[in-house]
Amino acid sequence: MPVSIVIGSQWGDEGKGKITDLMSPDYDVVARYQGGANAGHTIVWEDEDGEDEEFVLHLVPSGIFHENVTCVIGNGVVLDPKAVLDEIDKIQSLGIDVEERLKISHNAHLIMPYHKAVEAAQEEERASASDDDAIGTTGRGIGPAYTDKFARSGIRVVDLLDRDVLRQKLRRSIEEKNAILQDIYDAEALDVDRIVEEYVEFDQQIDSYVTDTSKYLCNALDDGAHVLAEGAQGSLLDVDFGSYPYVTSSHPTAGGCCTGLGVPPTEVEQVLGIAKAYCTRVGNGPFPTELDNEAGEQLRQKGGEFGATTGRPRRCGWLDLVALRYTNMINGFNDLAITKLDILSGMEEVKVCTQYKYDGKKTRRFPSEAQTLERVEPVYQTFPGWEKDVTDVRRFHQLPAEAKDYLAFISEYLGTSVGMVSNGPRRDQIITDVEVPATA
Ligand code: GDP
Ligand code: IMO
Ligand code: MG
Repeated sequence: MPVSIVIGSQWGDEGKGKITDLMSPDYDVVARYQGGANAGHTIVWEDEDGEDEEFVLHLVPSGIFHENVTCVIGNGVVLDPKAVLDEIDKIQSLGIDVEERLKISHNAHLIMPYHKAVEAAQEEERASASDDDAIGTTGRGIGPAYTDKFARSGIRVVDLLDRDVLRQKLRRSIEEKNAILQDIYDAEALDVDRIVEEYVEFDQQIDSYVTDTSKYLCNALDDGAHVLAEGAQGSLLDVDFGSYPYVTSSHPTAGGCCTGLGVPPTEVEQVLGIAKAYCTRVGNGPFPTELDNEAGEQLRQKGGEFGATTGRPRRCGWLDLVALRYTNMINGFNDLAITKLDILSGMEEVKVCTQYKYDGKKTRRFPSEAQTLERVEPVYQTFPGWEKDVTDVRRFHQLPAEAKDYLAFISEYLGTSVGMVSNGPRRDQIITDVEVPATA
């Protein structure tokens, strides 16, 4: 059963890119199963001169920097053809071969310019409503593209390969979306001919990457390959299990892996949850442990908490174990990686939310519906902070006692082991001899 899944356990940006890149050499294939270019997965490594190099991946899986790894963009992803081709160019300019190592599902749905236009119009409309309920999306056309997919009117990667079919489908779609843009949102119509001509040209550029990736993955698994499935976004942004409607439009949770790649659930062996040592959220929606004060600003500045895709400042707060316990339950994490522990160094005290207070009662239940989540009050347990800079620590026993106690508490509360602690953005900044087995 050789499929492992890396899953964000909070609201995204937990460090999935770093952990996936780190784990990749032990796998033959790394595959993205949902989301699109709304994701921003950062990988940092040290170059020959000892300088940090950084690359932010949006669509290409985070295994691409390891030459023996094949990367797959699965059917569950919504693919912006322009964005993926630009990303491929950038990676190739680093001298990395992508052509032979990237496979794109013929069944993945495409993001078109009208998806972004409709999303912008919808967000503007929501923002101007009296109760301003804009979602704060990344503007990458994700919601409208998944809407078309489930309305059975989407255009897929395979359609790019047949110019006549593409012309016909695209023309119909743009005309329909133009009617919506003009009549409902009073927005500008898009130029049908320009888009059609631009998109028919993609066939030759994308052709060599396109294949039946489900078949490829199932054959590889039959041959004994190990596959690492890389989730995008986070479990609390899942369209069913997240803080709806302030969510993304896909399934970052474990179930999404099988439908998004076309691999059987019986092949899944490991589900690894990635959690920051504190919590962030970008975009709108409830965030019970958000810190609208100096401590929150300290986390944002020290943690560099600015969106990897949109550059927006991320909202910051304490670790929320009620939420983590919920995503642990849904995903069945058999191990956790705790990232950005180094950012907590220098905090006088560190707080963890262990319960919510709701209607005068304390509870450990996470209500995913936004209107209830807005009203919960976090109940904190406070831990003493630690001064020591931990970015050079490589062995668990070298961590300050306060940091070890903090990690042990998380593991005990959740009843799940912590297998990795990340203490800096670089590959070498990782502690793997963690001694906090789950005892709860
Ligand atoms: P992802 O979307 O889950 O892949 O995460 P992002 O790349 O959006 O955001 C994580 C940010 O934290 C990136 O800038 C990473 O380089 C950085 N990062 C990852 N792990 C650590 C860590 O342990 N410590 C610090 N200081 N930075 C980290
Ligand atoms: P990675 O993979 C953090 C958020 C947006 C918004 C909501 C819906 O880097 O962790 P969308 O554009 O998906 O329709 O926006 O989801 N969001 C993310 N937040 N990290 C991400 O990806 C995100 N992808 C989407 O900010 O609140
Ligand atoms: Mg990110």
